This record gives sequence, C-alpha cells and structure tokens, in this order.
Amino acid sequence: VIDIRTLTKKTGKFTFDPGFTSTASCESKITFIDGNEGVLLYRGYPIEQLAEHSDSIETAYLLLHGELPTADECTDFRSSITYHTMVHEHFKQFFYGFRRDAHPMAVMCGAVGALSAFYHDSTDIHDPKHREVATHRMIAKIPTIAAMAYKYMVGQPFVHPRNDLHYTENFLRMCFSVPAEDYEVNKTLAAALDKIFILHMDHEQNASTSTVRLAGSSGANPFACIAAGIACLWGPSHGGANEAALRMLMEIGTPDRVGEYVKRAKDKDDPFRLMGFGHRVYKNYDPRAKVMQKACHEVLEAVGIQDPLLDVATKLEKIALEDDYFVEKKLYPNIDFYSGITLRALGFPTEMFTPLFALARTVGWIAQWQEMLEDPNQKIGRPRQIYTGAAKRDYVPLDAR
Ligand code: ACO
Repeated sequence: VIDIRTLTKKTGKFTFDPGFTSTASCESKITFIDGNEGVLLYRGYPIEQLAEHSDSIETAYLLLHGELPTADECTDFRSSITYHTMVHEHFKQFFYGFRRDAHPMAVMCGAVGALSAFYHDSTDIHDPKHREVATHRMIAKIPTIAAMAYKYMVGQPFVHPRNDLHYTENFLRMCFSVPAEDYEVNKTLAAALDKIFILHMDHEQNASTSTVRLAGSSGANPFACIAAGIACLWGPSHGGANEAALRMLMEIGTPDRVGEYVKRAKDKDDPFRLMGFGHRVYKNYDPRAKVMQKACHEVLEAVGIQDPLLDVATKLEKIALEDDYFVEKKLYPNIDFYSGITLRALGFPTEMFTPLFALARTVGWIAQWQEMLEDPNQKIGRPRQIYTGAAKRDYVPLDAR
C-alpha cells in the first residue's frame, strides 16, 4: 500500500495556512493596511483625506493608475466612464429571467457574468487597450447594473443613465427616479454616498479580491472574474455583514436590550456574534468606521430623521469598547457597523446594501486584476493542500461491499 500522505510530503515543502492568516499571495502597490495602528492608504494617500477631499472618479483613477490625475487626465477618465455607462438593450432581457423576488446580489452575480457574453471586443487580456476598455466598462456599467437589479426587485421600469450627472448622482437617479416624476438629486446625500463608495473601493487581498485575482490568474474573461468577486463578497462574514449588522440592530430594537446581546456574543455556547465588530486585519479601530460614523450623522441630519437604531448602535459601541472580552480580543466596530444605518437613511432597503458594496469594490477588483496581469512574474494561482483522506486502496465491486 502506498501512503499518499507520504507521497504528498515528498512533493516538496509548503506552508499550511488555513484562512491565509499569514501568507501573502502577491505583491501589490495599490493599498496598504496597518491593522494594529488602524491605517488604510490607497496608493499612499490616507483614506480619511480621500474621503474628505476626493470623489469616486478621481479615487478610481488613483487606484488604477497609481497617481492622482491632472485636470486633463481627470476629464478624459470621467468622459470615458460616462461613455460606457449604457448596457446593450438585449441585456435587459436577461434580467427578466430572474424570479421577481431574487436577491439583487444573485441578480448581479448573473448579470455581471453575462457581460462576458455581450462585450467580446475587450477580452484579449494580453492587449493593454483591451484591458483598459474592459476596466472602464466595468466601472461604468456596474452602477447601471446595480440600479437595474434594484428596479427589478421593486418592480419599477429601468431608468437609463444620464451622462450629464456625476457618477454617484446618476446612480441615485437610476435607483430612485420613477416614471412621470423628475427625480432631483440631493447633493448632500450624493456626496455622502460618494464617500461611502470611496471607503469601500479597495482593501488589499480580502476574500473577494483574492477570488478575483485567482479567477483572473487563469486568463479568464474579466467580467466573469468580477462576477466571481461578487459571489464571494455576498457572504455574511464579508460584504454581507452590513446587511447582517442592520438586521441585528433592528432585532435589538432598543438601547436597553444591548446588554443582553453583548452577553450572548461572549457566550461560547451561542454562535451569535456582534455583526459589524471585529476584523481579520484591523486589531484597532477600522479607520473607515470613523469616517462612516461621521457620514451617518451627516445623512441623518440632511434627511431630517432621528433613527432610533443610531441610539442602539451608539450604546452597543460604547458597551463593547469597555467590555473586557471585546478589548482583549481587539474587536472594534468595522465599516459595516454604521453603513447600514446610513444606507437605510439614503433610502436603500437592506437587500441593496451588499450590491452597493459590490458596486464600489468593483473599482478595487478591476485595479487588482489589471495589476496582476501587468506583473511579468504572474502565474496561475494554485494553492496546495495537506491530504488527510484514505491511503491508496483497490476498487471493491458492488456485490462485495
Ligand atoms: N462577536 C463576538 N465575538 C467575536 C466576533 C464578534 N463579532 N468576532 C470575533 N469574535 C471572537 C471569536 O469568537 C474568536 O474567539 P476565540 O478566540 O475565543 O475563539 C475571536 O474573536 C477571533 O475570531 P475569529 O473568527 O477567529 O477572527 P477572524 O479574524 O477569523 O474573523 C471576522 C474576522 C470574520 C470579521 C469576525 O470578527 C466576525 O465574524 N465578525 C462579525 C462579522 C462582520 O462584521 N464581518 C465584517 C468584516 S469587515 C468586511 O468584510 C468589510
């Protein structure tokens, strides 16, 4: 009998790192995180500064090209993104195949993957011009697709992009414009959503970005790679956490019930976790959470609502930050903690929270995909395994089992 485990060991040394907690899969110049200090930089620029002074288009350019654009570069990039916002008319038919009550993330996985069937002329990944067009198409069409997924869910007609509007204003209009009513974009709300997009654009080698890189490493179609990223982002431990965090705040309901939930989160026999707390990399305050908390207050003020969930969130944050369990395990609020309340105030239902995250993260995914393909040492991603199954054995005929 040959012991396959011994064979595996003979094939060479490799690390065993479940969950990739300490293995770098690539070199990248795009995003830097210092989880202990709570620092996040895009191409060297602190996230707080970009959220305060930049906008989604300029930050997308920065992530793709490595430098902030000059005025001319910015104008060219804006017009290229604007040029590509439309989707093929036949693409609409594709949506009607989904069940009426489909989750918009399910629709987006399918619809973005289907772009590969509509845009064949930008998929030669070895041609830099093709790569650029695929990149611009992806950033331009993702708001249109997310808005279509939303409209399909609420049973309203699709709204065409309006290219005289800013990227984020156009998205809000495509979501909230209804027939026979001219939707007027609220600039404060559009600016807050734009900030949310910037905060979510990239976060180095998280699960969905690694998925995009792994899919792309085989030379796969760029739109199919982004669809793979959307599928991965959907999970509640990743992008789905913003939806889960808001549902948890709604379940808690009132500040006086916060203690009960904190107690549950600490109970090892209870699988419950405080959604919106903890992060694989940040063992300090998530710098995006602070910006998000500020944006949350701005939006609530602009729409003139007093959301009782904000009181629940504030109390939960205060109690958790003082509690030994959370302090010892370095569990701080992450970006998802305040984003749900903010997106709700902007008028989005919880089902749209993760699609909005996917919209923003598409910029990072496509920038990482491009960086990977431009790396002269790029190889197909192929993790190893430690085999723990049966040793080699002979087939047993059915009547002898
Ligand atoms: N509530 C209660 N306990 C928690 C929480 C939480 N939110 N997060 C982690 N812990 C505990 C774990 O039970 C574990 O305890 P133990 O050491 O006694 O076993 C310890 O803290 C470490 O947790 P891990 O799951 O091993 O940490 P990991 O780095 O793998 O997980 C994760 C990070 C998935 C984000 C986790 O903190 C979590 O599930 N948080 C809630 C979901 C969430 O908010 N996700 C959003 C992430 S941010 C993003 O994707 C944009």
